[in-house]
Amino acid sequence: MKKFLSIMLSVILVLSVFSMNASAYSTEKLTQEEWDTLYSSLKDDNTLPMLCQGADETKLGLVWHSPVDSAKAEVKLSKNSDMSDATVFTGQIDPAENKEQVVCRVDITGIEENTTYYYQWYTGEKWSETCEYKSNSFDSYKMMVIGDIQIGGQTDEATKQSEDGFTWQSVLSEAMTKNPDISFLLSCGDNTSTGQGANEWQTLLMPPLVRNIPLALTIGNHDKKGMMYDYYTHMPNEFYGEYFTGLDRDFYFTYGDVLYLVFDATSPSAADHMAMAKKAVEENPDTKWRIAVMHQALFGPAYGSLDPETGILLNAVFTPIFDTYDVDLVLTGHSHLQGRSHFMVESSVVGKAESGKAYVEPEGIIYLNSNAVCDHDSFTLPLPHVAYEFIENDVTTYTTLEFYGDTMKISTFRGDNSELLDEVSIIKKNVEHKDNSLGKLIQRLLYKVVEFLGMVYQKIDAIVVANRGGHF
Ligand SMILES: [Fe+2]
Repeated sequence: MKKFLSIMLSVILVLSVFSMNASAYSTEKLTQEEWDTLYSSLKDDNTLPMLCQGADETKLGLVWHSPVDSAKAEVKLSKNSDMSDATVFTGQIDPAENKEQVVCRVDITGIEENTTYYYQWYTGEKWSETCEYKSNSFDSYKMMVIGDIQIGGQTDEATKQSEDGFTWQSVLSEAMTKNPDISFLLSCGDNTSTGQGANEWQTLLMPPLVRNIPLALTIGNHDKKGMMYDYYTHMPNEFYGEYFTGLDRDFYFTYGDVLYLVFDATSPSAADHMAMAKKAVEENPDTKWRIAVMHQALFGPAYGSLDPETGILLNAVFTPIFDTYDVDLVLTGHSHLQGRSHFMVESSVVGKAESGKAYVEPEGIIYLNSNAVCDHDSFTLPLPHVAYEFIENDVTTYTTLEFYGDTMKISTFRGDNSELLDEVSIIKKNVEHKDNSLGKLIQRLLYKVVEFLGMVYQKIDAIVVANRGGHF
C-alpha cells in the first residue's frame, strides 16, 4: 500500500508539473523519482512539441508530430490564460520519418516584448494543454548557451537516454531558476547520440521547460549520423546552399542588436558557409554584435583544437569567414570540455581576455567552448590560446550572454549550483562593419581557393562516410 501510494504521489507530482503550464510555469528540478515517472509515461509517445527560436525576437516556431489522418498545423496564441481572444497561426505539414505521422511546423509572429503569452497546438484530436511563453526586453536581454546535450551519450540505450534526460532537465531548471530572464537557449550541436532514434528527440523534449523557452539547435556530428534532426526541428532562415547534401544546412537569426550565424560545421562546403554568412550579413548589415556558432571546438581547451580535422580543415574553412565578417564571439562544443580563448585573429592570439575583466573595442574573436550535458571529459594542455578552462569539469556547465548598453557579458556557471566560473565583458561603443572595404573584398576573393578545396574534401569525405556507414 505504501509503495502504491508513493507511486501515485509521484504521478500526481509529475502531472502537476505539466498542468502548471496553464498558469506560471515551474523551474523546479524534478527528483529522480519524478523524472522516472515522467520518462516512463512519455517514452512511447512521439508527439511532444518543441518551441523554436524564430527569425527575430518577434517570432517563434513550433514543431510537433501528429497523426497522418487528423493533423492540422495550427497554433493558438493568446495573452489570456483561458485562451480568449486567441490568434490562430497556420503552418505547413511535412512528411515524417514514419508512415503513421506527419510533422507540423508553425511560425508565430507579432510577439511583443515583456509580455506573457499562452499557446496551444492542435494534437490531431483536440487542442493541447495550455503552455506559457514569456518574452523579456528585446534591446537588453540574456540568452543561454549549452554544449552537447547528446541524449544517449555514446550509446543508443534507453537507460542512458533517460539518464541524460534527467541531467538535461536538471541543468535547464538550474539555469532558469537562477536566470528567469533568459530569453532563449542555443545548443552548440550534438543534441542526440545516434541521430537515428525518435526516442532521443522524445527524451530531449520531455523537460516541461522546453515548452517555455525557445530552442535554437546547431547540428553536430552525432546528429549527422542519421536524418532525425530534419523531422524534429524548425529553425529560422534555414540555408540549404548549392552544394550541401543530406541533412546539411546552416541557419541564422537576429535577436536585439545581435546577428547569430549558425553553421553546420560537419559539412566542409566552404562556398555554402560563406554564402550563408554573406546573405545573413547583407540582410542585417547594422547589427552591433555578430556571433557565430559551430559544433567542433575550433579553439577550445586541450586536445579539441588539435584534432587535424578541426585544427586544419575547419580552421581553413571557418576562420576567414569569421574574420571577414567581424564576428565577435564563436560558440563551440564537441570536446566535452568547458573553456574560453583569448582574442584571436585567424589562429593567433592578438590580445589577452582574462577572467573578470572588461575589454573596450578589442581586436579579435573570443572562442567559447561549452561542456557537455551527457558526460564530461577532463584533460588539460598548456595551449597559448586558452584564457580559461574548467579543470574539474566533472559537472555540467552553462553560459549566459547578456547584452545591455554597449556591453556583451559572457558568464559561465556550474550547471548544478550556478557558481560563477568565468566571466569576461566586451564593450563596443563604435560599430563600423567594413564588410565592403577593398581589404575584405580581396579576402573573400582569395577564399575562392578554400571553396574549391572544400569541395574536393567534400567529395572525398562523402566516399569515406559511405564506406564507414555513417558520419564520423
Ligand atoms: Fe560532437
